[in-house]
Amino acid sequence: MAAFTNVYGENTEEKTTLPLQKEKSWAQPYPLYLFQDFWCPGIHIDAVQRFQQHFQSKESDVIVASFPKSGTIWMKALAFAISNHQRFSSLEGHPLLTSNPHELVPFMEFTFGPDDIQDHILRLANMAEPRIFGTHTPFPSLPKSIKDSNIKVIYICRDPFDNFVSAWAYFNKIKPVSFPPVSKEEAFEMYCNGVVDYGPWWSHMLGYWNESVAKPNKVMFMKYEDLKEDTSFHVKRIAEFLGVPFTEEEESSGMIENIIKLCSFEKMKDLEVNKSGVIGRGSIEKKNFFRKGDNGDWVNHFSPPMTEKLSKIVDEKLSGSGLSFKKHS
Ligand code: A3P
Repeated sequence: MAAFTNVYGENTEEKTTLPLQKEKSWAQPYPLYLFQDFWCPGIHIDAVQRFQQHFQSKESDVIVASFPKSGTIWMKALAFAISNHQRFSSLEGHPLLTSNPHELVPFMEFTFGPDDIQDHILRLANMAEPRIFGTHTPFPSLPKSIKDSNIKVIYICRDPFDNFVSAWAYFNKIKPVSFPPVSKEEAFEMYCNGVVDYGPWWSHMLGYWNESVAKPNKVMFMKYEDLKEDTSFHVKRIAEFLGVPFTEEEESSGMIENIIKLCSFEKMKDLEVNKSGVIGRGSIEKKNFFRKGDNGDWVNHFSPPMTEKLSKIVDEKLSGSGLSFKKHS
């Protein structure tokens, strides 16, 4: 296999010497490794280990956690706008108008480069507070300083049917031209087996779900579908959860509606900063983070046997957990 590099230019595929079970990625030209019980992209393992070892939390930190393609960028934008609503009360000059949410709310997996760790520790310590980070790492693999603290974690979760469609469309768009496209059928089989970046998706969801049940003041579990159906209600909930509730004055001034509009799919997709350019040092075009942004696109992609198979898996894997999704037929 050819060498592939992560955002730091590291070729971690060849550096990974751990004796891990390995599978072909369904959508990327690098393998997935079963690392700490989740399918970690080979090119992320070193970065994940560095953040596990070196990340030092602060009480005011906010973490936006998600399984990939569940609405991460939307929740990052909302968490940023809500946390900073007093600082940026007017939309004029709002950072979300000129920066992509992935830039304002960086992934923790990529906060520590392979170079001077002390430099990264210092840079993070000096970030403006509240520091808001994203992560795709499953709950059990988060650093102790997050798990054992009162830091607020917001988890955004998506119906697996729409999650699959979104992931398949996205990975086929961002894959290198030289990598042959993975058919929907092949991708679906791997999704059903849980073999997908940061999967299995059911254990990812359940890890955060169980923590949100045990510690509701620490982990807020949010479904993309619910957020879409009543954004205003959930924006208020998030603000309360983060300890920055909107005042009556702010509410009557239209601040909540303004935040919803600013973070809406239509607005974000249309901003120049999200329409052009690539993210970080990587080669992912920012426009690829915005596709349809709606509930229920799965009906356009699923055959009846696929619907039956995934419905059974969802029921089986989530059975007895208290977590459920709308039935599909
Ligand atoms: P679709 O592919 O179904 O359109 P992630 O951010 O985790 O990668 O998730 C990407 C999904 O969120 C894509 O779903 C994308 O279109 C959708 N999305 C992006 N921005 C959004 C927004 N502001 N509101 C709602 N959905 C959004």
